[in-house]
Amino acid sequence: MKIKLEQLQQALLQREALQLKRTPVTLARYQGRMLTVASKDYLNFSGNDYLGLANDPKVLQAYAEGALQYGAGSTGSPLITGQHSIHQQLNDSLCDWLGFERTLLFSSGFAANQAMLMTLTDKDDLLLLDRLSHASLIDGAIHSKASFKRFGHNDLAALTKLLQRYNSEQQNTMVVTEGVFSMDGDTPNLAAMVQLCQDYNAGLLLDDAHGLGVLGDQGRGSAAEQGVAPSALFCTMANFGKAIGVGGAFIGASKTVIDYLEQFARHYVYSTALSPALCAAVLASVNLCRTEQWRRDKLQQNIQLFRQLALAADLPILASNTPIQAVVVGCAEKALQLSLALKQQQIWLTAIRPPTVATGSSRLRVTLNCMHQADDIKQLVNNLRKHYDCIT
Ligand SMILES: Cc1ncc(COP(=O)(O)O)c(C=O)c1O
Repeated sequence: MKIKLEQLQQALLQREALQLKRTPVTLARYQGRMLTVASKDYLNFSGNDYLGLANDPKVLQAYAEGALQYGAGSTGSPLITGQHSIHQQLNDSLCDWLGFERTLLFSSGFAANQAMLMTLTDKDDLLLLDRLSHASLIDGAIHSKASFKRFGHNDLAALTKLLQRYNSEQQNTMVVTEGVFSMDGDTPNLAAMVQLCQDYNAGLLLDDAHGLGVLGDQGRGSAAEQGVAPSALFCTMANFGKAIGVGGAFIGASKTVIDYLEQFARHYVYSTALSPALCAAVLASVNLCRTEQWRRDKLQQNIQLFRQLALAADLPILASNTPIQAVVVGCAEKALQLSLALKQQQIWLTAIRPPTVATGSSRLRVTLNCMHQADDIKQLVNNLRKHYDCIT
């Protein structure tokens, strides 16, 4: 084991030397627009709590009451003793909200994505993934029995070429994309992708982690926003840790697909079911998300204000109409410097570096939420402009 330990040490040193070492941050307090680290308050532009639901009093109360009524832990995997009535209520509510025939709950989006790709494909099948797919999708594809290829980001012509070249009647092809890409904040043309998949008899698998709650009527997500019916997709995964503000995830699809996952998805069958208290909090949060349109309206206002100010200040932002706004800096060291300079101005904005993004595309990934005020956003853009000049 001495050699193994030396290898681990070497890898850690190398990561540090390349300015790529990440350090977890311990929050002393979290309040949506603000967070506190080591007794210092910061404006928060790095979280995924887009609708400000993580701290909503109704969600917190539902969590506490859920624990008292149903228990803190589920006490088992779902097919043994882990499924409580609150899990069923949550599934029913998701189907009613999103229009799926059935949904299945998972402990995280990472697990759900792995289950989706690994369980729904076989050795003769083909997976086609967008080049910027989340790590959980890439790992799911690697660990599946299917062969897989990647197409250029949101590039329908490249996807068409792969379909023309590799799609055959002997195998099932699944195309995998995200509703909102987590590091760029942009969206694919889902209607065109559905059409393409139909033309080639392929299925479309969607990860809507960053679209659920944020996009579409009642926050139904990216597909709803683009007029794509849930039944046009083979399967959709979304999690409760972003706009819903809690944690856990689900897969929604036809009854047959979910019945199959319930029997064969190892991440579901062999894992402790979600905490019932957490399900009660998610249920309360989903109700607020559906009914409180003002949260999405305010979020959109904040997104538009940020873009207008950032473009006027000549900042290099990527095209995106979602809460994820990327200011691409290039090299990892510069991104870190800029993030540190902002920290000194009490703005929390994490630098995103390889391997999360491609080498040379390190960035500050601004995430906006509906709790931000116009002055917060002005302060952010002014500081970004001022310090961006110093480091380039
Ligand atoms: C696009 C995308 N898919 C999946 C996940 C994983 O979800 P979770 O954090 O619930 O494991 C994330 C979150 O990091 C994500 O951004």
